[in-house]
Amino acid sequence: MTDPVDRQFPVPKSDSWKMFNRISARYDLLNRLLSLGLDLSWRRRLCTYLPDKPDLKLLDLATGTADVLITLAENAPRLTEGVGVDMAARMLDIGRRKIIKKNLDKRLTLRTANANKIPFEAETFNCTTIAFGIRNVDDPLVALQEMRRVLRPGGRSLILEFSFPKNPLLRAGHLLYLRTVVPALGWLLSGEYAAYKYLNETIEQFPYGEEFCELMRRAGFSRVSAHPQLFGVATIYQGERE
Ligand SMILES: C[S@@+](CC[C@H](N)C(=O)[O-])C[C@H]1O[C@@H](n2cnc3c(N)ncnc32)[C@H](O)[C@@H]1O
Repeated sequence: MTDPVDRQFPVPKSDSWKMFNRISARYDLLNRLLSLGLDLSWRRRLCTYLPDKPDLKLLDLATGTADVLITLAENAPRLTEGVGVDMAARMLDIGRRKIIKKNLDKRLTLRTANANKIPFEAETFNCTTIAFGIRNVDDPLVALQEMRRVLRPGGRSLILEFSFPKNPLLRAGHLLYLRTVVPALGWLLSGEYAAYKYLNETIEQFPYGEEFCELMRRAGFSRVSAHPQLFGVATIYQGERE
Protein backbone atom coordinates (compact mmCIF):
# COMPACT_ATOMS: atom_id res chain seq x y z
CA MET A 1 0.00 0.00 0.00
CA THR A 2 1.89 3.06 -1.17
CA ASP A 3 0.46 6.09 0.57
CA PRO A 4 -1.19 8.22 -2.14
CA VAL A 5 -1.07 11.40 -0.04
CA ASP A 6 2.56 11.01 1.02
CA ARG A 7 3.61 14.21 -0.72
CA GLN A 8 1.09 16.27 1.26
CA PHE A 9 2.81 15.69 4.63
CA PRO A 10 5.19 18.39 5.91
CA VAL A 11 7.90 15.70 5.59
CA PRO A 12 7.52 12.80 3.07
CA LYS A 13 7.21 9.49 4.93
CA SER A 14 10.09 8.02 2.95
CA ASP A 15 12.32 10.72 4.54
CA SER A 16 10.82 10.68 8.04
CA TRP A 17 13.91 8.94 9.45
CA LYS A 18 16.01 12.02 8.52
CA MET A 19 13.67 14.17 10.57
CA PHE A 20 14.03 11.75 13.51
CA ASN A 21 17.81 12.07 13.19
CA ARG A 22 17.45 15.85 13.54
CA ILE A 23 15.23 15.70 16.64
CA SER A 24 16.99 12.68 18.21
CA ALA A 25 18.53 14.64 21.11
CA ARG A 26 15.09 15.86 22.24
CA TYR A 27 13.03 12.83 21.17
CA ASP A 28 12.72 11.05 24.53
CA LEU A 29 11.99 14.26 26.45
CA LEU A 30 9.30 15.33 23.97
CA ASN A 31 7.72 11.88 24.04
CA ARG A 32 7.40 12.05 27.83
CA LEU A 33 6.02 15.61 27.80
CA LEU A 34 3.60 15.30 24.87
CA SER A 35 2.13 11.99 26.06
CA LEU A 36 2.21 13.08 29.73
CA GLY A 37 4.35 9.99 30.39
CA LEU A 38 1.70 7.65 28.98
CA ASP A 39 4.01 6.41 26.20
CA LEU A 40 6.01 4.56 28.91
CA SER A 41 2.96 2.78 30.27
CA TRP A 42 1.80 1.80 26.76
CA ARG A 43 5.22 0.28 26.00
CA ARG A 44 5.02 -1.61 29.33
CA ARG A 45 1.56 -2.89 28.35
CA LEU A 46 3.20 -4.55 25.32
CA CYS A 47 4.83 -6.98 27.78
CA THR A 48 1.45 -8.48 28.65
CA TYR A 49 0.95 -9.47 25.00
CA LEU A 50 4.36 -11.14 24.51
CA PRO A 51 4.20 -14.84 23.56
CA ASP A 52 4.25 -17.05 26.63
CA LYS A 53 7.42 -18.91 25.63
CA PRO A 54 10.88 -19.26 27.20
CA ASP A 55 13.98 -17.87 25.42
CA LEU A 56 12.17 -15.27 23.37
CA LYS A 57 14.03 -13.93 20.36
CA LEU A 58 12.43 -10.62 19.39
CA LEU A 59 12.89 -8.03 16.62
CA ASP A 60 11.75 -4.44 17.19
CA LEU A 61 11.29 -2.37 14.02
CA ALA A 62 11.63 1.43 13.86
CA THR A 63 13.20 0.99 17.29
CA GLY A 64 14.35 4.63 17.56
CA THR A 65 16.05 5.21 20.92
CA ALA A 66 15.28 1.60 21.96
CA ASP A 67 12.59 2.34 24.55
CA VAL A 68 10.51 -0.69 23.53
CA LEU A 69 13.43 -3.14 23.71
CA ILE A 70 14.62 -1.74 27.03
CA THR A 71 11.12 -1.83 28.55
CA LEU A 72 10.53 -5.40 27.36
CA ALA A 73 13.96 -6.62 28.51
CA GLU A 74 13.48 -5.04 31.96
CA ASN A 75 9.99 -6.47 32.44
CA ALA A 76 10.22 -9.85 30.70
CA PRO A 77 13.32 -11.87 31.74
CA ARG A 78 12.31 -14.57 29.22
CA LEU A 79 13.31 -12.15 26.46
CA THR A 80 16.84 -13.47 25.99
CA GLU A 81 17.71 -11.83 22.67
CA GLY A 82 16.32 -8.54 21.34
CA VAL A 83 17.35 -6.84 18.10
CA GLY A 84 16.26 -3.33 17.14
CA VAL A 85 16.45 -1.80 13.65
CA ASP A 86 15.89 1.76 12.48
CA MET A 87 16.96 3.97 9.57
CA ALA A 88 17.99 6.87 11.84
CA ALA A 89 21.60 6.30 13.00
CA ARG A 90 21.47 9.10 15.58
CA MET A 91 18.37 7.66 17.23
CA LEU A 92 20.19 4.31 17.42
CA ASP A 93 23.30 5.96 18.95
CA ILE A 94 21.17 7.29 21.80
CA GLY A 95 19.52 3.87 22.14
CA ARG A 96 22.92 2.14 22.36
CA ARG A 97 24.06 4.46 25.13
CA LYS A 98 20.86 3.75 27.10
CA ILE A 99 21.29 -0.02 26.63
CA ILE A 100 24.89 0.07 27.90
CA LYS A 101 23.93 2.28 30.85
CA LYS A 102 21.29 -0.28 31.85
CA ASN A 103 23.69 -3.23 31.43
CA LEU A 104 21.45 -4.79 28.80
CA ASP A 105 24.07 -4.96 26.03
CA LYS A 106 24.42 -8.75 26.30
CA ARG A 107 20.71 -9.16 25.46
CA LEU A 108 19.99 -6.20 23.18
CA THR A 109 21.64 -5.07 19.93
CA LEU A 110 20.75 -2.35 17.43
CA ARG A 111 21.46 -2.00 13.72
CA THR A 112 20.59 0.29 10.85
CA ALA A 113 17.95 -1.18 8.54
CA ASN A 114 14.75 -0.41 6.67
CA ALA A 115 11.51 -1.86 8.06
CA ASN A 116 10.36 -2.43 4.48
CA LYS A 117 13.34 -4.70 3.78
CA ILE A 118 14.34 -6.48 6.98
CA PRO A 119 17.86 -7.94 6.73
CA PHE A 120 16.99 -11.27 8.38
CA GLU A 121 16.05 -14.67 7.03
CA ALA A 122 12.48 -15.97 7.21
CA GLU A 123 11.42 -17.64 10.47
CA THR A 124 14.15 -16.12 12.66
CA PHE A 125 12.14 -14.61 15.56
CA ASN A 126 9.38 -15.63 18.02
CA CYS A 127 8.06 -12.09 18.15
CA THR A 128 8.26 -8.88 16.11
CA THR A 129 7.19 -5.48 17.45
CA ILE A 130 6.85 -1.91 16.21
CA ALA A 131 5.77 1.04 18.37
CA PHE A 132 4.72 4.37 16.86
CA GLY A 133 6.68 3.32 13.79
CA ILE A 134 4.31 1.64 11.31
CA ARG A 135 2.69 5.05 10.65
CA ASN A 136 6.09 6.42 9.63
CA VAL A 137 7.19 3.84 7.07
CA ASP A 138 6.31 4.62 3.47
CA ASP A 139 4.61 1.25 2.86
CA PRO A 140 2.90 -0.15 6.00
CA LEU A 141 1.59 -3.26 4.22
CA VAL A 142 5.10 -4.26 3.13
CA ALA A 143 6.43 -3.64 6.66
CA LEU A 144 3.67 -5.88 8.09
CA GLN A 145 4.47 -8.59 5.52
CA GLU A 146 8.13 -8.34 6.53
CA MET A 147 7.23 -8.59 10.23
CA ARG A 148 5.33 -11.78 9.46
CA ARG A 149 7.99 -13.22 7.14
CA VAL A 150 10.70 -13.23 9.82
CA LEU A 151 8.38 -14.84 12.41
CA ARG A 152 8.68 -18.53 13.20
CA PRO A 153 5.43 -20.50 12.83
CA GLY A 154 3.38 -19.82 15.96
CA GLY A 155 5.16 -16.48 16.40
CA ARG A 156 3.43 -13.20 17.15
CA SER A 157 3.63 -9.58 15.99
CA LEU A 158 2.65 -6.64 18.20
CA ILE A 159 1.99 -3.17 16.86
CA LEU A 160 1.52 -0.14 19.11
CA GLU A 161 0.17 2.91 17.33
CA PHE A 162 -1.87 6.05 17.95
CA SER A 163 -5.59 5.82 17.24
CA PHE A 164 -8.76 7.75 18.10
CA PRO A 165 -11.38 7.36 20.85
CA LYS A 166 -14.87 6.32 19.70
CA ASN A 167 -16.53 8.77 22.11
CA PRO A 168 -17.13 11.99 20.08
CA LEU A 169 -16.24 14.35 22.95
CA LEU A 170 -13.00 12.56 23.78
CA ARG A 171 -12.22 12.36 20.09
CA ALA A 172 -12.73 16.13 19.62
CA GLY A 173 -10.55 16.88 22.66
CA HIS A 174 -7.83 14.57 21.41
CA LEU A 175 -7.91 16.16 17.94
CA LEU A 176 -7.66 19.65 19.44
CA TYR A 177 -4.66 18.57 21.53
CA LEU A 178 -2.95 17.01 18.51
CA ARG A 179 -3.55 20.02 16.27
CA THR A 180 -2.57 22.77 18.71
CA VAL A 181 -0.52 21.70 21.76
CA VAL A 182 1.59 19.05 20.00
CA PRO A 183 3.02 21.24 17.17
CA ALA A 184 3.44 24.27 19.47
CA LEU A 185 5.27 22.39 22.24
CA GLY A 186 7.23 20.32 19.71
CA TRP A 187 8.38 23.49 17.96
CA LEU A 188 9.31 25.21 21.24
CA LEU A 189 11.41 22.32 22.51
CA SER A 190 12.92 20.92 19.31
CA GLY A 191 12.84 23.93 16.95
CA GLU A 192 11.27 21.61 14.34
CA TYR A 193 7.71 22.75 13.65
CA ALA A 194 7.39 20.47 10.59
CA ALA A 195 8.24 17.40 12.65
CA TYR A 196 5.36 17.94 15.05
CA LYS A 197 2.88 19.01 12.33
CA TYR A 198 3.94 15.77 10.65
CA LEU A 199 3.10 13.93 13.88
CA ASN A 200 -0.52 15.08 14.10
CA GLU A 201 -1.17 14.89 10.35
CA THR A 202 0.13 11.33 10.03
CA ILE A 203 -1.88 10.25 13.10
CA GLU A 204 -5.08 11.72 11.61
CA GLN A 205 -4.51 10.01 8.26
CA PHE A 206 -3.47 6.56 9.47
CA PRO A 207 -5.95 3.61 9.57
CA TYR A 208 -6.87 2.35 13.03
CA GLY A 209 -9.18 -0.17 14.69
CA GLU A 210 -10.87 -2.61 12.31
CA GLU A 211 -9.32 -0.91 9.27
CA PHE A 212 -5.82 -1.60 10.58
CA CYS A 213 -6.79 -5.16 11.59
CA GLU A 214 -7.86 -5.70 7.97
CA LEU A 215 -4.45 -4.48 6.78
CA MET A 216 -2.82 -7.04 9.09
CA ARG A 217 -5.01 -9.81 7.66
CA ARG A 218 -4.01 -8.72 4.16
CA ALA A 219 -0.38 -9.08 5.25
CA GLY A 220 -1.16 -12.71 6.13
CA PHE A 221 -1.66 -12.55 9.90
CA SER A 222 -4.24 -14.72 11.63
CA ARG A 223 -6.00 -14.32 15.01
CA VAL A 224 -5.74 -10.54 14.64
CA SER A 225 -7.04 -8.47 17.56
CA ALA A 226 -7.00 -4.82 18.67
CA HIS A 227 -6.62 -3.66 22.28
CA PRO A 228 -7.42 0.06 22.75
CA GLN A 229 -5.44 1.93 25.41
CA LEU A 230 -6.74 5.02 27.27
CA PHE A 231 -10.18 5.15 25.59
CA GLY A 232 -8.54 4.47 22.22
CA VAL A 233 -5.87 7.19 22.13
CA ALA A 234 -3.46 4.36 21.28
CA THR A 235 -4.04 0.72 20.31
CA ILE A 236 -2.01 -2.46 20.63
CA TYR A 237 -2.65 -4.80 17.69
CA GLN A 238 -1.73 -8.47 17.81
CA GLY A 239 -1.46 -10.97 14.97
CA GLU A 240 0.00 -14.45 14.60
CA ARG A 241 1.76 -16.52 11.99
CA GLU A 242 0.24 -19.98 11.75
C1 LIG B 1 8.02 7.84 16.40
S1 LIG B 1 9.57 7.03 16.27
C2 LIG B 1 9.28 5.59 17.23
C3 LIG B 1 10.53 5.09 17.91
C4 LIG B 1 10.33 3.98 18.94
N1 LIG B 1 9.72 2.79 18.39
C5 LIG B 1 9.55 4.45 20.15
O1 LIG B 1 8.62 3.75 20.57
O2 LIG B 1 9.87 5.53 20.69
C6 LIG B 1 9.52 6.41 14.62
C7 LIG B 1 10.82 5.79 14.16
O3 LIG B 1 10.60 5.19 12.86
C8 LIG B 1 11.84 5.24 12.17
N2 LIG B 1 11.61 4.96 10.76
C9 LIG B 1 10.94 5.69 9.84
N3 LIG B 1 10.92 5.05 8.65
C10 LIG B 1 11.58 3.88 8.83
C11 LIG B 1 11.87 2.76 7.98
N4 LIG B 1 11.48 2.73 6.72
N5 LIG B 1 12.55 1.73 8.51
C12 LIG B 1 12.96 1.72 9.80
N6 LIG B 1 12.72 2.75 10.64
C13 LIG B 1 12.03 3.81 10.17
C14 LIG B 1 12.33 6.64 12.48
O4 LIG B 1 13.69 6.81 12.21
C15 LIG B 1 11.97 6.75 13.97
O5 LIG B 1 13.05 6.37 14.79
